[in-house]
Amino acid sequence: MSSSDAQSKHVYSRAYALALDSQDPLHGIRKDFLIPSKAQLRARSLSEAETHDSSSPDDTAIYLCGNSLGVQPAITSVRMQQYFTTWATQGVFGHFKPLAESPLPTWLDADARASDCIAPIVGALPAEVAVMETLTANLHLLLSAFYKPDINGRHKIIIENQAFPSDHFAAESQILHHNLSPSSSLITIELPGLPQAPLSTSYILSVIEKHASTTAVLLLPGIQFYTGQYFDIPTITKAAQKAGIFVIWDLAHAVGNVLLDLHGWGVDAAVWCSYKYLNAGPGAVGGLFVHEKNSQVSSEAGQLTFANRLSGWWGSSKASRFAMDNKFVPIPGASGFQLSNPSILDITSLNASLEIFAKAGGMVPLREKSVKLTAHLEVLIRNMEAYTAKRFEIITPSDKDQRGAQLSLKLQPGLLDAVMKYLEEKSVVVDERRPDVIRVAPAPLYNSFEDCWLFVEAFGEALHAAEKL
Ligand SMILES: Cc1ncc(COP(=O)(O)O)c(C=O)c1O
Repeated sequence: MSSSDAQSKHVYSRAYALALDSQDPLHGIRKDFLIPSKAQLRARSLSEAETHDSSSPDDTAIYLCGNSLGVQPAITSVRMQQYFTTWATQGVFGHFKPLAESPLPTWLDADARASDCIAPIVGALPAEVAVMETLTANLHLLLSAFYKPDINGRHKIIIENQAFPSDHFAAESQILHHNLSPSSSLITIELPGLPQAPLSTSYILSVIEKHASTTAVLLLPGIQFYTGQYFDIPTITKAAQKAGIFVIWDLAHAVGNVLLDLHGWGVDAAVWCSYKYLNAGPGAVGGLFVHEKNSQVSSEAGQLTFANRLSGWWGSSKASRFAMDNKFVPIPGASGFQLSNPSILDITSLNASLEIFAKAGGMVPLREKSVKLTAHLEVLIRNMEAYTAKRFEIITPSDKDQRGAQLSLKLQPGLLDAVMKYLEEKSVVVDERRPDVIRVAPAPLYNSFEDCWLFVEAFGEALHAAEKL
């Protein structure tokens, strides 16, 4: 072996990362995304940003922030333009008139197309998925249907202590909405003395067991936003349901990231957003899963039986929707939880991004790559001098089955601001969660092994720079 071969095989080298990229069957998909260039990130005006293109690979920013906001697929602006053309040339007929050669569904079918594409990503039957509203709004809609507290029986909602604030607020406000008190009805799972530590499944199960007879709903994140821990959804779901508890998962950080089998696991319900790993754009339409067992509509002697909910006309039967007769006839399945006619602008953007998921072959090859990518990032990080000198630690579990793409790096106190400033100056895009965590997430659709290498190099420099201050 020549010395350059030996060098390229050195696992910590840039050449090794490049070799991994060249063997990666999904590497070509990166060019389907508009990853900002360094010059674009430095721009201070829209016109300046527009003058730079992102085609030079040397100038591409190191974007490892798909856990917060995924980058824009190149196809999105094409599909949006087709949508604008349809609206401009067809007006209201765009709702139901199919246009030959158009890749877009009619607007009346756009949400169903999105549900069909999302269903395999979350492991659901298409009828169990609705593409609608936003994550927190969907959470409230689910709680309005399935949280029916009884102060003498089941009235508690269990969440984790580090729940994303919006989930905490939703659970707390639902309790208040039912004239109950969060001090007795909101249970937060927390490891005593270790508020930011990963929670073991056995500890979660022990909390469920403790409150089994008085709990109505368990609400947990599939992947914890701060630590990056991927919870054991099937085991926790099963144990909670055995205790008679309705189980809802917040999949904001799990959808499009890890393999999910919501139907197979018997999950009661779930919510997600589409601006992270699904790359649909900031604040784009969210999604909701309701297991078929929880969304049935039966009719006996003209009397409908279904889970009551906060409703709107879009959840009512398509056949009678325009009859304007004020009779709510819920569509069986998750679509029956819809309120309004959905934003086609949003759905067009989401569907464009989902075309790339299909092109990549779905979640199985993506997760396969993701496991390798994050493992490589971890290997490089653990080799850093600053890691061995304990300037920071990785708080995300090392076990691939307990994490998705994200690694959370907890810095020693006082380093965060200077490290983030340095990384930003170098056009390395990651995000921070106060007080002292940096989240780094290589997304398998568009990130490379070289991105991981370049991040680790810049991060090492950033720590040096921060310590000198
Ligand atoms: C875990 C988690 N839950 C809930 C939310 C809130 O989502 P939305 O603003 O779409 O309601 C977020 C947003 O980032 C999140 O990360």
